[in-house]
Amino acid sequence: MDIRIPRGTQDILPGTSEKWQYVESIWHDICRRFNYAEIRTPIFEQTELFQRGVGDTTDIVQKEMYTFKDRSGRSLTLRPEGTAAVVRSFVENKRFGLPNQPDKLYYTGPMFRYERPQSGRMRQFVQFGVEVIGSADPSIDAEVISLAMEFYKETGLKGLKLVLNSLGDQESRKAHREALIRYFKPHIDEFCEDCQSRLEKNPLRILDCKEDKDHPLMKTAPSILEYLNEESRQYFQTVQELLDKMGIDYEVDPGLVRGLDYYNNTAFEIMIEGEGFGAISTLTGGGRYNGLVEEIGGPEAPGIGFALSVERLLMALETQGVEIPVNQGLDCYLVTQGEEPDKEGTALLTELRRAGISADKDYMNKKMKGQFKAADRLQASFTAVLGEEEWQAGRINVKNMNSGEQQEMDITELTTYLSAQLKEEKE
Ligand code: HAM
Repeated sequence: MDIRIPRGTQDILPGTSEKWQYVESIWHDICRRFNYAEIRTPIFEQTELFQRGVGDTTDIVQKEMYTFKDRSGRSLTLRPEGTAAVVRSFVENKRFGLPNQPDKLYYTGPMFRYERPQSGRMRQFVQFGVEVIGSADPSIDAEVISLAMEFYKETGLKGLKLVLNSLGDQESRKAHREALIRYFKPHIDEFCEDCQSRLEKNPLRILDCKEDKDHPLMKTAPSILEYLNEESRQYFQTVQELLDKMGIDYEVDPGLVRGLDYYNNTAFEIMIEGEGFGAISTLTGGGRYNGLVEEIGGPEAPGIGFALSVERLLMALETQGVEIPVNQGLDCYLVTQGEEPDKEGTALLTELRRAGISADKDYMNKKMKGQFKAADRLQASFTAVLGEEEWQAGRINVKNMNSGEQQEMDITELTTYLSAQLKEEKE
């Protein structure tokens, strides 16, 4: 067969999908406890949303979007990230008019970026994220950061480093931007083509260039923290004080600029330290985006959020050898022999499943020996045997596969008996 999975995507197969379900259940639960409500937006949006939201000069918009025309000639794009889409939905559904502000939202879902695939860098990847829109209170910045840290903690991941920066408000950014242009301009021909075109459009992005990261000018470039006005400085200070109060460690790195255009004030990343992660050590990225809601046609409403990728989280858990409890084994495998007992078995399965018991039978016409083997492979806690003779007598033979104990009973008693036994085993 020549048809293969597209580059940079993956199948999540049984055995692994349980791990996804496990981290998903922690994610939903943590969002519930922090009082965030789930939002689901489409996989594709109008291309213009990302051009305006994420920013025309970003790598994402310039090089990484899956953009196509539909049959009516509209330009659509598979979402490369969730923030712009959530903001679009917030505006379109007039959520700014709801009595409960800020709007605390969370999401999970696939994102698409045409990147060079490598371990931890996919073309389709799943993000868990949150967005809080409508408040510029530093305590919401601290809450959002703590939600991410708390989530990782509950998955069992260790060795995390929270890196924090402030990108300042509009005024501070403008002053910093001018300083960057003054600083880089005389030497810009020593930088890559991308940086040359970034100089006037978005000089902050030069600091994030992978190609020129070792250029000596990078180390001594003007730091945003020196250009923060009083208000931005105070804001950043308060966020740090709140994190201190919450007992969350962090490191301030003025070089953290983030790859999307909408950020201002608080910006953060959560990295993982230790062997085995190579260049891909950033697990989470986020920050504040006051101004994005207006950019997308809404009223003035400041926002903050983050997103993390599940692929990187699972890689990190695996590298650290964190055991993920996966639900193993079937409760009951039904072994039957003969046509009528098999029909009876089909009805019995329905009854067991309705009672919350996981149960299965053979569909491959296997002999009894083969059916017992299947029960073993599925790690069934019980097998229930219904042969011709038992069926005639309205009886069934139940075996506890752990203790080897066997018991014959009335068919009508099976569900109640198994429910009680399984409850006892779980206690
Ligand atoms: P981002 O930094 O572009 O931010 O992505 C956030 C996280 O998504 C990264 O830290 C990384 O874990 C994961 N990620 C990004 N690209 C890939 C990829 N190709 N393969 C696997 N994982 C990837 C955003 O997307 C912003 N929307 C975050 C945000 C929300 N800011 C405010 N609110």
